[in-house]
Amino acid sequence: MAAASDSGALACPPARERTGHDPADLAQVAALEEEVFATQAWSPRLLRCELDAHATRGDRRYVVAAQGQEVLAYAGAYLGDGAGEADLLVVATAPWARRRGLAGTLVTTLVDDARRAGCRSVLLEVRESNAVARRLYQSHGFEVIGRRRRYYADPQEDAVVMRLVLRETTGPVGAEVV
Ligand SMILES: CC(C)(COP(=O)(O)OP(=O)(O)OC[C@H]1O[C@@H](n2cnc3c(N)ncnc32)[C@H](O)[C@@H]1OP(=O)(O)O)[C@@H](O)C(=O)NCCC(=O)NCCS
Repeated sequence: MAAASDSGALACPPARERTGHDPADLAQVAALEEEVFATQAWSPRLLRCELDAHATRGDRRYVVAAQGQEVLAYAGAYLGDGAGEADLLVVATAPWARRRGLAGTLVTTLVDDARRAGCRSVLLEVRESNAVARRLYQSHGFEVIGRRRRYYADPQEDAVVMRLVLRETTGPVGAEVV
């Protein structure tokens, strides 16, 4: 996983990239995933597949914010071939490391990656009731563009769809892939 930084003890370590198979990162991310998302957590196996795809395919990016060897936050995005929309897949910060700007740093890193890849926008889904995450995304310029009914389970809930436009184009969302 890529990391958004590793500058030591401070309010907000930078993002750094996980470049290959790092069992220590994977174990920590899997533990955080389970702690933060509980029954909705990605399995360690799925996480490994995603990180492998990051390392080998280049169509997605995973970053962590770490202090020394300790992973404090992680995030991932699907960039595809860079011709269309990127998807912000996950953002999470350890409960004891929140409100230090870590998630914001990771979101900025992934948005910059999407822009560099040529993506025209970044999309995401977020639980309607997740006011903290929605505020995080709003503060990074994401706007609500729709809703997916009953998108989430346990508890069942609608998703709010948000988008950050990186470059203006004409035509409907996804038109470039048909
Ligand atoms: C949402 C989450 C990732 C934010 O992580 P974080 O590292 O604490 O976020 P940051 O410190 O970078 O905060 C960035 C902005 O988010 C908003 N924010 C973060 N925590 C907030 C809180 N408790 N109350 C209100 N706004 C908050 C603020 O706008 C904040 O900017 P500010 O501090 O300048 O006001 C974290 O709370 C988390 O892991 N939640 C559980 C998982 C989740 O919901 N992930 C998102 C859906 S996939």
